[in-house]
Amino acid sequence: MIYRNATSSDLKRCFEIRGKTQDNAFNESELAAIGVTEESWSRLIEDRTFTGNVASTNDIVVGFCFGDTKTGEILVLAVLKGHEGMGIGKSLLEKTSADLFSIGHNKLWLAASATPIVRAYGFYRSVGWHPTNTFDGNGDEILTKRKI
Ligand SMILES: CC(C)(COP(=O)(O)OP(=O)(O)OC[C@H]1O[C@@H](n2cnc3c(N)ncnc32)[C@H](O)[C@@H]1OP(=O)(O)O)[C@@H](O)C(=O)NCCC(=O)NCCS
Repeated sequence: MIYRNATSSDLKRCFEIRGKTQDNAFNESELAAIGVTEESWSRLIEDRTFTGNVASTNDIVVGFCFGDTKTGEILVLAVLKGHEGMGIGKSLLEKTSADLFSIGHNKLWLAASATPIVRAYGFYRSVGWHPTNTFDGNGDEILTKRKI
């Protein structure tokens, strides 16, 4: 597996993957409805508001993670169905977290499903993120991670 920084030219594939995850899949129209489009994200990557990493095998991207350099939020993490359970999500999250810590954030946060049967629920706890028992407007739980 090759890991590298994401560029705006990865976005088409990232959006495709977001629609093909085992849980929590969002297709392009659902993302567009909340203002997330290739165009809007492209601008935010170009001006370095967003930073991210992709994982690829045989030149095909199978997972990605993006964070917000201004707020310290992990915005999205997704691994293509069929590639889960291989450490890709953990590596992408660690790399993107390291990028955000390296620019001065001491505490990162994200919103994730509060439903224990969803894989992400156990995943974030297993890789050292702390539930806060606070929730966003969608009912997702806020989890945090401090710089070590
Ligand atoms: C959640 C997700 C990113 C996890 O990615 P992944 O590549 O399958 O996870 P990894 O293989 O890196 O797992 C890392 C560790 O977490 C553990 N883990 C994963 N899911 C777990 C669960 N539900 N309960 C307990 N441990 C879990 C793994 O066993 C592994 O442990 P190890 O390091 O001791 O081997 C992936 O399932 C996904 O893309 N889901 C759909 C999209 C999504 O929900 N994204 C997050 C919310 S935006």
